[in-house]
Amino acid sequence: MFLQWVLPQLHMSWPGFRRVHGQVCKHLEQRCKQLGLPDIVTYQNYLQQQPQEWQVLDSLCRITVTRFYRDKAVFAFLAREVLPTLIHQAQTRGAQHLRLWSAGCAGGEEPYSLALVYQLGLEIKPGIGLHILATDADAHMINRAREACYPFSSVKNLPQTWLASAFVQREELYCLKTEYCDPVELLIHDIRSETPNGPFDLILCRNLTFTYFEQTVQTEILARLRKALQPGGVLVIGVHESLPTVEGLTVWSERLGIYRRL
Ligand SMILES: C[S@@+](CC[C@H](N)C(=O)[O-])C[C@H]1O[C@@H](n2cnc3c(N)ncnc32)[C@H](O)[C@@H]1O
Repeated sequence: MFLQWVLPQLHMSWPGFRRVHGQVCKHLEQRCKQLGLPDIVTYQNYLQQQPQEWQVLDSLCRITVTRFYRDKAVFAFLAREVLPTLIHQAQTRGAQHLRLWSAGCAGGEEPYSLALVYQLGLEIKPGIGLHILATDADAHMINRAREACYPFSSVKNLPQTWLASAFVQREELYCLKTEYCDPVELLIHDIRSETPNGPFDLILCRNLTFTYFEQTVQTEILARLRKALQPGGVLVIGVHESLPTVEGLTVWSERLGIYRRL
């Protein structure tokens, strides 16, 4: 099968794509059409003659499925345990802001969920500012995040009261009010490249590195993520993911994929 041939060459892992490969196949069909190629075998030959096409192929392998408040239990745990601890830690060292990074942020659903939790979901007023860096390799996703308007299917997991108070409805879409967008800085960035300027109190890297990349790439990225965390800072991965190593980290909640830098 084409994907099983191509993914190892992109340092990606087939098992991660098994359940969702339909999305990649659709991208491949569109690409063949765009190039005027009749089928995937012809595309395979085209790849061998046009080395620059591998970069395009890499972008066709991005899975962008997400939603607000994905894995509710994770956000509840962040609100109840993690954010209050990180706020306290930041205040103790005299920081003015908590710095978070959502890596692979898709259309903004994850970083905006964090902004909502911070502003609406904490038991106490934080008393410290918030800055969220939200990055994705896909420019189209970053543009969607800038628009910050979503169909109901994306926002339906959110508590009803947040939906009513933090969004304005425009026709069929739910558009996030500016005050919840403001703490989020959006940037096109590939997780395999150099880490953006840290240190961060919290990094979310969910349903990307530890699902779709092969182990050596996972290990390299993990080392960089760990380095980008404050001591005592927290890394959150997807609930169905696991880390290639927990060296230099302690487990906060294995079930929720939450780890802390030693
Ligand atoms: C499945 S979504 C996960 C979104 C969100 N983190 C979540 O858990 O719901 C994966 C996102 O990672 C982005 N992505 C894929 N490859 C990437 C890369 N090399 N660097 C940065 N982002 C990437 C995709 O464009 C997509 O938006």
